[in-house]
Amino acid sequence: MSEFSVRAVAEGEQRACLDVLSQALHGKAASDETWAKMAPSWPAAGKFAAFDDHGTPVGIASSFETELTVPGGRKLATAAVDGVGVRADWTRRGILTAMMAAQLEDIAARGLPLAALHASEGVIYGRFGYGAATYGKSVLVERPRARLRDGVGRDGMVRLVSPAEAVECVPALYRRFAGERPGFLARPVMWWPGFFDRIVTGDEGYRVAVHSGSDGDDGFVVYQTIDQRDRQAPERGALLDIREMHAATPGAQAGLWRFLLSVDLVSAVTGRGRPMDEPIAALLTDPRAVNTTEVIDDLWVRLVDVLAALRARTYGTAEPVVLEVLDRQLPGNNGRYVVGPGGVDRTTADAELRLDADTLASLYLGDGLFSDLVTAHRVEVLDAAAVARADVLFHTARAPWCGTFF
Ligand SMILES: CC(C)(COP(=O)(O)OP(=O)(O)OC[C@H]1O[C@@H](n2cnc3c(N)ncnc32)[C@H](O)[C@@H]1OP(=O)(O)O)[C@@H](O)C(=O)NCCC(=O)NCCS
Repeated sequence: MSEFSVRAVAEGEQRACLDVLSQALHGKAASDETWAKMAPSWPAAGKFAAFDDHGTPVGIASSFETELTVPGGRKLATAAVDGVGVRADWTRRGILTAMMAAQLEDIAARGLPLAALHASEGVIYGRFGYGAATYGKSVLVERPRARLRDGVGRDGMVRLVSPAEAVECVPALYRRFAGERPGFLARPVMWWPGFFDRIVTGDEGYRVAVHSGSDGDDGFVVYQTIDQRDRQAPERGALLDIREMHAATPGAQAGLWRFLLSVDLVSAVTGRGRPMDEPIAALLTDPRAVNTTEVIDDLWVRLVDVLAALRARTYGTAEPVVLEVLDRQLPGNNGRYVVGPGGVDRTTADAELRLDADTLASLYLGDGLFSDLVTAHRVEVLDAAAVARADVLFHTARAPWCGTFF
C-alpha cells in the first residue's frame, strides 16, 4: 500500500490542494477565473497537506488566524480551521488524524489559545478535542401571513447596493460591529475575496441590502431569490433565501426583516443558521408565520491552551468549581483548574467535575449546560453540588453565534 507524508504546504502548491478539497466536497476543480478570485483567500500559510509517494497532494487541512469573541466580550486569537478534505481513494488511512496532529501542534506553537471550525459531519472532530459550541436555526417565514407589529423596523432606511459597492462598503461595516456576542468571528482581509466578493460579484444573482439608522450604516443582508412562480398557482411566489445577515442594533435587525418581508412576488423568506435567539416570531402579529425547520451546529471550538482560554472569558455569579480536564492530543492541558468569577488557575484541589477537552469546548462559549452533559455521561460528577454551580458560571444569557462561513 502506498504511504503518505504530511507537511506544510509550500508556496505554489495551493491550487492543487484546493482541487483535492473540491473533489472531497463533490465540487468541480476551480476554473482559472474562480482560482483568480479564490487565491487571495487561499495562501500557503497555515496549510498542512498529505502527499503520496509521487508528491501529489491527497489531503488538505487549512487554517487562518483571526479573533473570536468569548463571553465577556474579549476577542481571543483563534485559528479558524477551514478547507479540510481527503481524496476519496485515500480516506480512512489516518490522513486526517495526521493532519490534525500537525495542525494542532502548529497552532499551539504559535500561541493561539483557540481553534474553531464548521464541520461537514457531526462525527468527525470530537476525537480531536473540538466541541459544537454554537447552534443556528433554519427558518421559513410565510410572507402572506407575516405582518410586522406596529412600529417594528421603521426607524431606518434600507437601500440595495451594487456588487461593486457591496465589496467596497460591507467589510468596513462588518468591522464596525462591536462583536459583543460570544462566537462572533473577526473577518481578516484575506477572508473577503474568497467568501464574500466572489459570491456577490458572481453570476448566482445575490443581492446586497444595507440598513442605515441614526448613526449611519448599521446592518446588511446578502440574499438570493429563487423563482418558483406558477401562473396556475399565483399565490406561489419566489423564495427569498438569506445567505447572511448581520445587524449592529435591534432596530437594524428589525428594519432588515421589514425590508425582506416587503419584497414583491415572494411567498416565503428562508434563512439557514440564524441565531437561536433571533426574535423573528416576536416581530410579527402572527408568530406562527415563522417555521423553524432545522437546528444545526454552527461553530465547533477547540481549547488549544485551556488555561489561557478559560482565563479570557467571564463567568456568572457562583462559587468556583474545580474541573479536571482530559486532553488526549495536547496532554499539556491535562490537569485540574479552579474556575470562578474571581479568576481561573491550575490547582491541586480535588476535582469536582471531570470532562474531556471536547466537552469543555462545547460549553466554553456559554451554550448548553453541564447538567445536560451529566445526563449524557460526558461530565463525570465527583461532587454533585458542583453541577449547578458550573451551569451558572458557564452559561450565557445571550446565545453564542458565529454567522461567518469559512
Ligand atoms: C472527513 C475526512 C476528512 C476524514 O479523513 P480520513 O483521512 O478518512 O480520516 P482518518 O482516517 O484520519 O479517520 C480518523 C477516525 O475518524 C473516523 N472518521 C473520519 N471521518 C469520518 C466520517 N466522515 N464519518 C465517520 N467516521 C469518520 C475514522 O473512521 C477514524 O476512526 P478510528 O480512529 O476509530 O478508526 C474525509 O472523509 C473527507 O475528506 N470527507 C469529505 C470532505 C469532508 O467532509 N471534509 C470535512 C470538512 S469540515
